[in-house]
Amino acid sequence: MKIIISSHFDEFFMPPEATADLHLVKKEIQKALQDKKTILNEWLKFQNQSKGKFIRAQLALASGELLNLPKDTVIKWSVACELIHTASLIHDDICDQDEKRRGLTTIWKKYGVPAAICLGDFIIAQAFQKLSEIETGWHQTILLNSLSLSMKRIIVGQVSDVGVDIKKISMKDYEQIAYEKTGPLLMTPLDGMFRCKELPESELNGLNKLMNSIGLAYQMINDYKNIKSKKTDISLNHLNFISILIKENNQKINDKYSIKLSLTDAHERIIKKLNEIDRYIHQVPIILQPIFISIANQMKETL
Ligand code: IPE
Ligand code: IPE
Ligand code: MG
Ligand code: MG
Repeated sequence: MKIIISSHFDEFFMPPEATADLHLVKKEIQKALQDKKTILNEWLKFQNQSKGKFIRAQLALASGELLNLPKDTVIKWSVACELIHTASLIHDDICDQDEKRRGLTTIWKKYGVPAAICLGDFIIAQAFQKLSEIETGWHQTILLNSLSLSMKRIIVGQVSDVGVDIKKISMKDYEQIAYEKTGPLLMTPLDGMFRCKELPESELNGLNKLMNSIGLAYQMINDYKNIKSKKTDISLNHLNFISILIKENNQKINDKYSIKLSLTDAHERIIKKLNEIDRYIHQVPIILQPIFISIANQMKETL
């Protein structure tokens, strides 16, 4: 099968199933990010201007529709996954004291930390409300379980991230934290759909291995891009695998030459991780394989 590689990071070339109904998901997200209360509505309006890549929404749409699940379940699931991701970023920016997100000022920076806590919480509530609207009762139970478990896992990952001693962390610890904080929310959109389709446990295990590699590579690329452009992870002393590489090579963290050298090393490691995807891809149903190939290709493209 020929896979088209996008040259823009904003649009992933997923199977057509992932994008055909994306406009419906975006519309429902816009609706969920509204409220009558004026002050909350002001924050929500600002949040609504922020545009991510909708990768989690697309993963839910592509897998749900390729597995032939009811449209109502798939759309609402896709909305819920994307909303939880959005809330996690609003709270993450408080934890990291980051001032920019998706090219805009972060919520905490613009409106204050209490506003960002409340807004994130409101969006989490909207995600679960969306699940409560799913018409097929047993799908709702499965998806509620999948989303709440995933949330718990990213919170545990985030706890490890904020609690880590940057001076002592090894690459192995980094990988563990990256799996925990980034993997679950990439895995969940697919996991929910696999479970609704009652696919065998062996295929869920295959999906798990595949998504672990993708989750780690996704976080590594996120770190790599931070160092290549803004370098805020170095100035703010945040967890970033390139800082670990610099230290492992006994180089100075603020030295331009050591950063450049470590970026080359980081690039090779990311490509190696992405190539691991080929090893596990045959373990998921053949009909879904283009989803993973297109993500891997897109991730390579953005490097
Ligand atoms: C950012 O995720 C946070 C990580 C888990 C690395 P994305 O890069 O997928 O975020 P958006 O939604 O496209 O902004
Ligand atoms: C974000 O991780 C992951 C979660 C929100 C759980 P990072 O803090 O590394 O990602 P960015 O750089 O802010 O997007
Ligand atoms: Mg962050
Ligand atoms: Mg963080």
